Amino acid sequence: MTTTLGTLDQRLRQKEMSAALCRFGKKYLVLSGKGGVGKTTLAANLAWLKAKAGHRVGLLDVDLHGPDIAGALYLPEAKVEVDDQGHLVPVKAAENLWVMTVQHLLERKQEAVMWRGPRKMRAIIQFIGETAWPQLDYFFIDSPPGTGDETLTVLKNIPDVKALVVSTGHAMALSDVAKAIDCLKACGTEAFGLIDNLSTLICPECGRETPLHGQGGAQELAGAAGIPFLGSLPMDPAASAAADRAGTPLAEAAPESQLALRLVELADRL
Ligand SMILES: Nc1ncnc2c1ncn2[C@@H]1O[C@H](COP(=O)(O)OP(=O)(O)OP(=O)(O)O)[C@@H](O)[C@H]1O
Ligand SMILES: [Mg+2]
Repeated sequence: MTTTLGTLDQRLRQKEMSAALCRFGKKYLVLSGKGGVGKTTLAANLAWLKAKAGHRVGLLDVDLHGPDIAGALYLPEAKVEVDDQGHLVPVKAAENLWVMTVQHLLERKQEAVMWRGPRKMRAIIQFIGETAWPQLDYFFIDSPPGTGDETLTVLKNIPDVKALVVSTGHAMALSDVAKAIDCLKACGTEAFGLIDNLSTLICPECGRETPLHGQGGAQELAGAAGIPFLGSLPMDPAASAAADRAGTPLAEAAPESQLALRLVELADRL
């Protein structure tokens, strides 16, 4: 009996999720096999740019153990409310931009999320289906590194999601990113393209651009995997610092920076 009710409950949740997904336009999962390569930075800035251009944008953080979207959007104190139908209400981060992250559900900022597989799966399904998202033109999802429960839950439950794969040119990143691409192939998910982040350094003193890591490695990986190469993004410490000072994503805080200009080009392709 318990199993039957459990199965029914799961089916209802999945039905609600499918209904919600029908109201979302283009869906992008920002992923990488590797940690610290800029997934959250990209997801937050691309979502911000699309919202700024007048599109209605949802941004979901499925990095449940290391949620950084609240930090990337400078919204550490925001809280998710529950509406009278029991649905979670995403935080409005800016005009046209709604955000859902577990960070906004925690009682304490430093609280650890210690969930295992099934609990994580349920949470992600709830963050999509039992959440009062408005009608959206774009739905971005920020993922943790690797190809674990969170990423697989998204790939399995959102059949039309496209992957934005983030790498750096470093050999250790490339070998982990190759595994993420393998996972996309196994799940039948379209890779929209691969982005080479942190490929050069823009000197905060003189503005000169210097190559970093192995040049061309990310483009070679994209070519070998048969997925589009979407270009390189520089490491721009001055733009990051401007974002920290202004308390807004760098695309807003340093719009003339090389990094922001290239992010705009990337956003225009989505
Ligand atoms: N192009 C860039 N220029 C300057 N700083 C950057 C750039 N890309 C990322 N960063 C910085 O690098 C750090 C890691 O970036 P981010 O948190 O976006 O990576 P991530 O892939 O989401 O990491 P994780 O795997 O831990 O979730 C952050 O401090 C971010 O501000
Ligand atoms: Mg991240």
